[in-house]
Amino acid sequence: MKALEGVKILDFTHVQSGPTCTQLLAWFGADVLKVERPGVGDATRKQLVDVPGADSLYFTMLNHNKRSIELNSKNEVGKEVLTRLIEECDVMVENFAPGALDRMGFSWERIQEINPKMILASIKGFGPGKYQDCKVYENVAQCAGGSASTTGFLDGPPLVTGAQIGDSGTGLHLALGIVTALFHREKSGRGQKVTAAMQDGVLNLTRVKLRDQQRLEKGPLEEYSQFGEGIPFGEATPRAGNDSGGGQPGRILKCKGWEDDPNAYTYFITQAAVWEKVCDVIGEPEWKTKDGYAKPKDRLDKLNEIFARIEEWTMTKTKFEVMDICNPLDIPVGPILSMKEIAEDEGLYATGTLVKVPHPERGEYISVGCPIKLSDSSVEVERSPLLGEHTTEILQQVLGYDGENLARVVESGAVGDVKVAAE
Ligand code: COA
Repeated sequence: MKALEGVKILDFTHVQSGPTCTQLLAWFGADVLKVERPGVGDATRKQLVDVPGADSLYFTMLNHNKRSIELNSKNEVGKEVLTRLIEECDVMVENFAPGALDRMGFSWERIQEINPKMILASIKGFGPGKYQDCKVYENVAQCAGGSASTTGFLDGPPLVTGAQIGDSGTGLHLALGIVTALFHREKSGRGQKVTAAMQDGVLNLTRVKLRDQQRLEKGPLEEYSQFGEGIPFGEATPRAGNDSGGGQPGRILKCKGWEDDPNAYTYFITQAAVWEKVCDVIGEPEWKTKDGYAKPKDRLDKLNEIFARIEEWTMTKTKFEVMDICNPLDIPVGPILSMKEIAEDEGLYATGTLVKVPHPERGEYISVGCPIKLSDSSVEVERSPLLGEHTTEILQQVLGYDGENLARVVESGAVGDVKVAAE
């Protein structure tokens, strides 16, 4: 039995933020019913298409283990079907533009009338306030949540990160809110509204930079490279390049082959506790006791020289050799892995973190499996549904529409081009 078996999710999500949330819930065993506009579906189905005529990887990699029902929620019969779905489900998840659900006629008040136990979970770009009505995408959230202003190099513009912290990050936050509300419902017997704003989610993940903002008001941030370089601080937390957020000096350094391979680099941390081992490894044993080098604080204005010397050493090794040498000594290092290297890592397939998924339209593709492992609730990744693949099945099995009733719903056009087998 899966952890969330028996939980029915009415999945009104689209694009990335909401789908990542409901995909996780599906992996934990929930029955996720994805509602999509007839003939159109989630816009990502046809975005960044690599196999003509097939659902894109953008869609397939975000919608595993779900069932798809085509339903026009603005059509009268469609509204009737949606009402029945709200009656039957435990959680409704949506990430429409602000106000879209109200415009459809399904306000929070109306949903509670239909099903007082329903948990309504929503992602919006911003929380209540002056930007509450904005439509928001990933990079907007990274910028508004404090990530972009603190990412990049001091002498360069703000940068967005490759990690989708605004979309997938907020999806994760929402999933936690949903299971918490389900747990609460066990005791209260009532549903509740769960909201996660993308700006808030990004800010939560950028928390250490707000820490630094407040420390900056008391004096310069001594662990930032710019302090050692004698560059004055401004009023706001600066971009810290590849400095580590935890205060231990760290840099990305070239490794053997860097001239041809853009990812032949390692992250290298000169953690105070292993300083002596670092000195031995790079061949500078006298730095262990030398004035100006022995104590962490005294090293701050010499970090460029120290990392240049470490880099001289890392450039004689591959990033994996650096890892093999430093790891047993507890010197924290990390190879910069390319997506190609990750996609070829057999160890990640063995744990289910990477999976190969067969698909009838596009053939086999690689996806990221469930990154959270439960010892009593294993995950079998199943391909994403084709548009409307389960419309009849959901109408019949979940909602009990049969015979004339089913024909009426189909004829109304509320559920798209559905063929119902003659009884
Ligand atoms: N049947 C009928 N109509 C449907 C429908 C269905 N099954 N599903 C969606 N629609 C309608 C909506 O009701 C809405 O109609 P309205 O504008 O008349 O109210 C319309 O489709 C478009 O929805 P919307 O959410 O505005 O899509 P969009 O493509 O214009 O905007 C986002 C996309 C992502 C910017 C927007 O949804 C948003 O800001 N979401 C919240 C933040 C978020 O999650 N952003 C990250 C996405 S990865």
